[in-house]
Amino acid sequence: MSKFLYGIDFGTTNSALSIFDEEKNEITETIIVPSILYFQSEQSPSQPLNYVVGEEAIAAYLSDGMKGRFMKSIKRILPRSSFIETRIHHKKLNASDLVTLILKELKSRADQITGTDCRKAIIGRPVFFDDDNTSKDVLAQKRLSKAAENAGFDEVRFQFEPIGAAFAYEKTISTKEKVLVADLGGGTTDFTYLELDPAKIGNKDRREDIIATGGIYIGGDSFDSAFMWEKGTPYFGKHTMYEAAPGKTLKVPVSLFANICSWEQMNFFNGLKVKNDIQTYYHYSKQDKTFKNLITLIDNNLGYSVFQTIERTKIELSVQTTSKFKYSEMEIEIDENISIETYENVIDKDLLKISRYLDTFLLQHQINPDEINSLFLTGGTSMVLAVKNLFKTRFPNIPLHTGDNFMSVAKGLAYSGYLFNES
Ligand SMILES: Nc1ncnc2c1ncn2[C@@H]1O[C@H](COP(=O)(O)OP(=O)(O)OP(=O)(O)O)[C@@H](O)[C@H]1O
Ligand SMILES: [Mg+2]
Repeated sequence: MSKFLYGIDFGTTNSALSIFDEEKNEITETIIVPSILYFQSEQSPSQPLNYVVGEEAIAAYLSDGMKGRFMKSIKRILPRSSFIETRIHHKKLNASDLVTLILKELKSRADQITGTDCRKAIIGRPVFFDDDNTSKDVLAQKRLSKAAENAGFDEVRFQFEPIGAAFAYEKTISTKEKVLVADLGGGTTDFTYLELDPAKIGNKDRREDIIATGGIYIGGDSFDSAFMWEKGTPYFGKHTMYEAAPGKTLKVPVSLFANICSWEQMNFFNGLKVKNDIQTYYHYSKQDKTFKNLITLIDNNLGYSVFQTIERTKIELSVQTTSKFKYSEMEIEIDENISIETYENVIDKDLLKISRYLDTFLLQHQINPDEINSLFLTGGTSMVLAVKNLFKTRFPNIPLHTGDNFMSVAKGLAYSGYLFNES
């Protein structure tokens, strides 16, 4: 039997795994891999599918001239009942198959470090995979469970991700605290309110300490989509006019641009009808230059690279007050200064949704803000200044703590593993 247990945080953007040595009772290493898959464009039907995971997937996709099949934010398909499978070359892969590839990668990297075949894992899950919808949630966890089994884990427990984050924070405190934990990731924002007590680490039953959990389906991906909508789509012809009938000009349909706000949805443009429609609008717009950019974007699969630029702009604005939205590829030229105020206007609706959800969460669970001793924020999106400010403004007198934004969930999941051990 392996003396190790793996804490696994399968995230929308990044997946992390903490190796927990059950004999030494400590984490020995944590690894992190972007949750990205890439299937090369050239594949032989007689061979198993060739694919790469993580950073290598990004490099291979870009060096292959953005051909092949590139998949990001795979966690989002877990709750989608309409997603049955996707055909990649000669193979059909369902949601669990795709997730399996990421979990397998994490497991094999960790097994190499431990020199074992560790089959025991605590896997995180968001409080809600999708908006509060039980059947979708059950489906998502079932698919994740199947993926874990496929990846070679046969002793698997699930834990809410924000509880994982809380257990990581608990390691850093010295006295009892009531803590509001917010884990703001790429796909979801999760909350838990609980009583942490370093003296209780190791206690078998911590259920009574967890006072409330909740979450909302908004994260960094939502901010990037909002940015594409507000600042990106005008460069791709959102304001283009075309001659619908002699003497009658109309704006091209706005629905076209909804589909470029999430790069995964750009597959929508593969249909013949929509391609023909786009050519028709282009023709009747008298070959409008910005609308041409939409055609260039679609024909050359540039969606992901535009979103990389958007993310870069966002990340810069976490540490400085201005940034540039700069993209130069084929004939598409974007070079615009973005101030922090502009950025905050772009994400304002999402921030409001997070803030409203927080109100509901406190109200629903009858949490009196005066009783909260501290806040713990984690996840990549917790670095967005406006997000930090939202918490500072809401709870001006409560100390705000941060930790490792990308690894704390995996670490805490590993720390929480003992709760599931048979005594
Ligand atoms: N410095 C930064 N400033 C602002 N946002 C950032 C920064 N670094 C990363 N992000 C954003 O954080 C998100 C990823 O965070 P994280 O790795 O915590 O998510 P995840 O765990 O994969 O997602 P989820 O928990 O929702 O499944 C992305 O949207 C990314 O763009
Ligand atoms: Mg996360």
